[in-house]
Amino acid sequence: MTTTPQSGLADNYGRVATDLRVSLTDRCNLRCTYCMPEEGLDWLAKPELLTDDEIVRLVSVAVTRLGVDEIRFTGGEPLLRRGLVGIVERTTSLQPRPQVSLTTNGIGLARQAEALRAAGLDRVNVSLDTIRQDTFQQLTRRDRLNDVLAGLAAAHAAGMAPVKVNAVLMRGVNDEHAPELLQYCLDHDYELRFIEQMPLDAQHGWDRSTMITADEILARLSEQFTLTPTDAATRGSAPAESFTVNGGPATVGIIASVTRPFCGDCDRVRLTADGQVRDCLFARKESDLRTALRAGADDDELAAAWRTAMRGKLPGHGIADPSFLQPVRPMSAIGG
Ligand code: 5AD
Ligand code: SF4
Repeated sequence: MTTTPQSGLADNYGRVATDLRVSLTDRCNLRCTYCMPEEGLDWLAKPELLTDDEIVRLVSVAVTRLGVDEIRFTGGEPLLRRGLVGIVERTTSLQPRPQVSLTTNGIGLARQAEALRAAGLDRVNVSLDTIRQDTFQQLTRRDRLNDVLAGLAAAHAAGMAPVKVNAVLMRGVNDEHAPELLQYCLDHDYELRFIEQMPLDAQHGWDRSTMITADEILARLSEQFTLTPTDAATRGSAPAESFTVNGGPATVGIIASVTRPFCGDCDRVRLTADGQVRDCLFARKESDLRTALRAGADDDELAAAWRTAMRGKLPGHGIADPSFLQPVRPMSAIGG
């Protein structure tokens, strides 16, 4: 089926969402300080979670009726979802076939990379903020660095290219080690992107004045590497500004969500593990698809509800606005 722009997920500002992020669970086996409190959170109860069939049904509506051509599975930690391989397999079997990727902390990826690749998974983004064991433990409150590194290697060996690494820098914790993280990624053929820390932590500890900005990251990396901006015109809706390292071909990316917002080019939409559509990471309202789904709505009705949900997407996240309020749900429950 071809999709006209009118039938896609358009908002009132002329943007059309074609990239769907699906959170498969709000649980996680790490406790990154910029995301979760030490004791974890009140997890969603099982009956609230969409079943595997319900997830595939909504993804199928998005792909076949709403023009979505890219699906990214996230969490919490999506590898904790038992049915993940099956969900990926059913998603890559849809027509037209979407691009399918996974955002993960990498724990358990070594065990599942081959099966995920066989199921058609195209790419992975692995979160890794440091390659020092003590700093990893300090940041994530768990001693699992070696599992993450093994997961990365397995994804690379399974042919999921490029393997991307996402890093968040925290002042006084891992910011000074940014160059060695980049060197590690260069040595292993991983594509590193730094993400500015966003106000999405459950503890509401984010502070604009202490966050590490894109400019600081660039300055720090430039002490040891020659960075050259790649053609800005090719950035499109991709949030990362990309730089070649030492003349290329390797690149490093910076996602400056806070200091250089890219909301005007946003093509993303999110589905939470409990079946709520979010038009933005920072949205303060959600639209419930699960109730309609469980009440027996057909695909047309679900598609119509989804289109309506998108229309009110705000022009920007407004983090810089003094009246900015953090979303009620933290990142782990929304899905990166
Ligand atoms: N700010 C920026 N990035 C974050 N992530 C999690 N919480 C935050 C935050 N508050 C990152 C994770 C992962 C991706 C999904 O988002 O490290 O790489
Ligand atoms: Fe888990 Fe990702 Fe949150 Fe870290 S940032 S605690 S890996 S959900």
